[in-house]
Amino acid sequence: MRVLGIETSCDETGVAIFDDQEGLLVDLLFSQIEIHKAYGGVVPELASRDHIRKALPMIKQALEESKTTIHDIDAIAYTAGPGLVGALLVGASIAKSLAYAWHIPAIGIHHMEGHLLAPMLSPDRPEYPFVALLVSGGHTQMLSCEGLGQYELLGESLDDAAGEAFDKVAKMLGLGYPGGPEVAELAKSGIAGIYQFPRPMTDRPGLDFSFSGLKTFTMNTLADIDAPTEQEKANIALAFQTAVADTIRIKCKRALDKTVHSSLVIAGGVSANLALRAALEKLSADQGCRLYYPEFKLCTDNGAMIAYAGLQRLKLGHDEDLSISVMPRWPITQLSG
Ligand code: KG4
Ligand code: ZN
Repeated sequence: MRVLGIETSCDETGVAIFDDQEGLLVDLLFSQIEIHKAYGGVVPELASRDHIRKALPMIKQALEESKTTIHDIDAIAYTAGPGLVGALLVGASIAKSLAYAWHIPAIGIHHMEGHLLAPMLSPDRPEYPFVALLVSGGHTQMLSCEGLGQYELLGESLDDAAGEAFDKVAKMLGLGYPGGPEVAELAKSGIAGIYQFPRPMTDRPGLDFSFSGLKTFTMNTLADIDAPTEQEKANIALAFQTAVADTIRIKCKRALDKTVHSSLVIAGGVSANLALRAALEKLSADQGCRLYYPEFKLCTDNGAMIAYAGLQRLKLGHDEDLSISVMPRWPITQLSG
């Protein structure tokens, strides 16, 4: 079985083809970063317009590169939510139109389920049940996963998502968008231990997160320094990143203790962060459990995770009518297997 995946939920157009025998055949990505950079964040209308420009030529290219004819495609998976409504509608309209023309099903995929399943595209795949930490630009969620679509929410961010906090701190430090990789790069030259940042919500029980206080703490730390030097900025970037990684480590330990699962999966854009991976590697070694994460290019948005999730849902017999609807807000716990 072969599935075409289309991702258009935010500022990346992703198109991929996944085959259940041969694996990932092609994975194309166009990032709109250059378009949005000048605005310091994603401009929804510009995102939608660019998805319209890119999606069909990329689908054509993906078919050509993988030597796939339309008769080889068994289903089209597209991101149905959560995300920017206009951007989602581009992918949904294209997927449904092609599904109509090619007489195959179109399957709407939950973007965060796509992220959650991305580590399964690696040869060493996690087995259910596991604890999953989804850390992206829009979400920070801790889940207990019993099977496909069987996700129990253990905790989530009450305010900013982890990626959002990275992006905002990057802005404060005068770095570009998206901020996560830039903060991580600057933190490399930081000196540890100069600043002690808080570990929010670790002083009370529970698995929820809050990152907006850390953002304010960063802002106040910067405001206390007249004309901060590059070294001082690097020290702050490192203190912030360490605080995020450490806070997440503490919450993951609690989730592992609570569920007694022996696997931990991290996914979403922030799972590319090496400091976070190192903190969770250490935790996993201490807990005697296994840590799984996607390969680097599959941490952030991509079509491969949507094609893969589509294949799993196709195998369960999922299908939809041809009406076009998207879910800009859509709790992952509403999914079923
Ligand atoms: O999953 P994703 O591509 O998009 C959403 O679904 O939101 O995540 C994007 C987020 C951005 O906030 C970006 O700054 C962050 O992931 N990110 C990182 C790193 N790479 C991407 N954050 C920290 N360290 C990184 N290396
Ligand atoms: Zn994403």
